[in-house]
Amino acid sequence: MSKIGIFFGTDTGSTRLVAKSIFKQLGENFADKPKNINRTSPAELLQYDALILGTPSYGIGELPGLSTGCLERNWQEFVPYLDGMDLSGKRVALFGLGNQERYADRFASSMIHLYRLFYGQGANIIGQWSTEGYKFENSDAVIDNRFVGLVLDQRTQPYLTDERIKIWLAQITPQLLPALAEAPPV
Ligand SMILES: Cc1cc2nc3c(=O)[nH]c(=O)nc-3n(C[C@H](O)[C@H](O)[C@H](O)COP(=O)(O)O)c2cc1C
Repeated sequence: MSKIGIFFGTDTGSTRLVAKSIFKQLGENFADKPKNINRTSPAELLQYDALILGTPSYGIGELPGLSTGCLERNWQEFVPYLDGMDLSGKRVALFGLGNQERYADRFASSMIHLYRLFYGQGANIIGQWSTEGYKFENSDAVIDNRFVGLVLDQRTQPYLTDERIKIWLAQITPQLLPALAEAPPV
């Protein structure tokens, strides 16, 4: 599949709205409409070589799922289907939502679970993001002083989201779709 596939998990809808903003900024020539992971089959996701995957944090920095109190199946129920699959050749950018004031000790930590899964099974993870501009004590999603993907806080910094997405997409689209390197959409 030559376009970017955008998949997200959500419980209260914020990650869906962010996924829609990402899609809008990329445009339909470059990405397919975002899909909720609870309505996605593994084959549907795996048909893309370029992926943008989004998740909020629930529980104690966990992926959303039935065990963290979500009403429907979510990332936690989806990821076991990918266990043991060869994901080499996939280019994957991650984004995570969290609340840095209320969950300062585990801000946006759930992204690390998607990172470990995809990186551990051979995918190329792109789109690491600076921790500057956020105030938190700890996040499992930080490796070598950088978040493993874009972090957004719709509870305490919603006014920064559009600009953060814009900068991040400018950074990742040439890597996600190498053919676009000369004429990126943003
Ligand atoms: C029960 C509960 C647990 C949460 N745990 C975390 C957490 O560990 N880390 C974090 O940064 N945010 C945490 N959050 C905040 C959510 O990730 C944040 O509100 C997010 O925007 C929700 O996204 P959604 O609307 O797509 O479900 C938690 C929220 C709730 C209600």
